[in-house]
Amino acid sequence: MKICVLPGDGIGPEITAEAVRVLKALDLKLELEEAQLGGAAVDATGVPYPEATQKLARAADAVLLGAVGGPKWDTLPREQRPERGLLGIRKDLSLFANLRPAILYPELANASTLKAEVVSGLDILIVRELTGDIYFGQPRGIEMREVEGRQQRVGWNTMIYAEYEIRRILKVAFEAAMKRGRKLCSVDKMNVLETTQLWRDIADEMGKDYPEVELSHMLVDNAAMQLVRAPKQFDVMVTGNMFGDILSDEASMLTGSIGMLPSASLDANNKGLYEPSHGSAPDIAGKGVANPLATILSAAMMLRYTFDQEEAAARIETAVKKVLAQGLRTGDIYEPGTTKVGTREMGDAVLAAL
Ligand code: NAI
Ligand code: MG
Repeated sequence: MKICVLPGDGIGPEITAEAVRVLKALDLKLELEEAQLGGAAVDATGVPYPEATQKLARAADAVLLGAVGGPKWDTLPREQRPERGLLGIRKDLSLFANLRPAILYPELANASTLKAEVVSGLDILIVRELTGDIYFGQPRGIEMREVEGRQQRVGWNTMIYAEYEIRRILKVAFEAAMKRGRKLCSVDKMNVLETTQLWRDIADEMGKDYPEVELSHMLVDNAAMQLVRAPKQFDVMVTGNMFGDILSDEASMLTGSIGMLPSASLDANNKGLYEPSHGSAPDIAGKGVANPLATILSAAMMLRYTFDQEEAAARIETAVKKVLAQGLRTGDIYEPGTTKVGTREMGDAVLAAL
């Protein structure tokens, strides 16, 4: 079980250190090796995704990433920006499946802008296709054309999905549903988009191979409504790149706590990149106050999805629930009546709970 650790920039090193301590505390034969990505790599080598990092990331079974970027590198040319390192590694490792859980622990129900009874105890997973759809379709462009009797600018993109792309993302979603509540909602717009009619047909075909999973379909506009009306009706949702982009951001904000949300991006062999959903938080970097829980929970996802260590993954998640129940809070999730702690103390508490 080889893990490549990429602390990155800003709060990245602080939060990654806590996740690494948690991984090391488990009785698993993990091999961890650290490398540079993002601004840290730019400073050291001039490029955001250096060759040494590529080598390590390719050889590893999983990558644990903090976050990259910050004002220090914002004036660099696009090719040298830290964000390029992130896009580079995602592409290099062919990570086509993005898993974004939205979990709201009952103790944090007040962090949401929605009524506590609507979101308390929420635990859903959005599976988003990451390398196809209208974001990548060719041809694309803006050009002058004659429309309505006059030359004017026309912009266009093409929405394309091939069967193999749809099958591999649906497989990830069905498998994830098997590891969770066995309910899968496939989101499309089959009433107007042929690509998504194909998506729905393939989902129905594949559903026969997963008789234990209760498969349903929903149009994307309705899904957007249902997510804020009654989000707890969902277990796993799967959808294409564009719909998934929007729905996963919507779902993450149901919880209101950016420091708590992990994510995974997987390839066809369950090799994965695991990272918190938030960025490098330069405003609080180096102060020891960042919330390490999203990164610790990302490590739990790694154990579940890449290493099939469900028990160890659940142990971490239970430990996180325990520290929340103890009333410990970093600044981002603090409310009066709870105990404010820093990054390291939060890590200590998770270790103690483990
Ligand atoms: P951000 O997510 O870094 O920060 C947004 C707000 O949330 C800030 O007030 C920050 O202090 C707070 N926050 C974020 N994570 C937190 C944590 N773990 N604990 C406590 N508070 C936390 O987003 P922002 O400010 O838009 O971006 C900052 C930098 O991060 C930029 O350079 C951006 O490009 C980069 N970024 C990197 C990502 C990645 O590496 N995957 C994703 C998003 C942004
Ligand atoms: Mg987005």
